[in-house]
Amino acid sequence: MRLDKYLSDMNVGTRTEIKKAVRQGQVSVDGVTVKNPGLSVNETSSVFYQGKEIVYEVFSYYMLNKPAGVITATEDRYQRTVLDLLPAERRKDLSPVGRLDKDTEGLLLITNDGDLNHRLLSPKHHVDKRYYAEIEGNVNESDVRAFADGLRLDDGLLCLPACLEILKSGDISEIEVEIQEGKFHQIKRMFEAVGKRVLYLKRLSMGPLVLDPSLAPGEWRKLTPEELASLQAE
Ligand code: URA
Repeated sequence: MRLDKYLSDMNVGTRTEIKKAVRQGQVSVDGVTVKNPGLSVNETSSVFYQGKEIVYEVFSYYMLNKPAGVITATEDRYQRTVLDLLPAERRKDLSPVGRLDKDTEGLLLITNDGDLNHRLLSPKHHVDKRYYAEIEGNVNESDVRAFADGLRLDDGLLCLPACLEILKSGDISEIEVEIQEGKFHQIKRMFEAVGKRVLYLKRLSMGPLVLDPSLAPGEWRKLTPEELASLQAE
């Protein structure tokens, strides 16, 4: 591929900025300063941009703390999507892994690695997802048992056993719940099945991937190599 494409794929700047930097001698390939943005390079080339090594990564993996009010989709004519939260040059062929409702916050993995996306969502795989929620109504031990036994939803669907932990019980209860599947509106429908309503919902983890507490809603970062390795081992 062309050198300017290599650098632009790795998001070091816009194509115009990259071309300028190359022409000004700020880029080296395999130890030699180059001035031609169209130079042919490949994924194994050693490329330095403004003194920093830029390793070519075929796939990108981002952790987003999804805020309420944006939809989990790649594009929409009317509503803001989770991809609108990433800078335009990073979006390319990215997709969210699974879906959070518009009013749900928290951990969302975004990647262009279709195989990983598929594997993590496969119903055979049972990747655990943990949520924090605020519930209208007094969540009690009989709810904990009902979740553990496997709830039946309004459409007759029988849920796999889920682990419900009560953090605070009252008119508005606080809980954490871990489910092994990801059916449409699952947590909200599980609480409806026990006569209660979800007021606030946030995903805390997905398999081994835990939401980084330093990310404010709407913020994102790349996965660390350790996080990626743990997901790939799932
Ligand atoms: N369950 C829900 O009800 N909504 C979500 O966004 C995620 C899980």
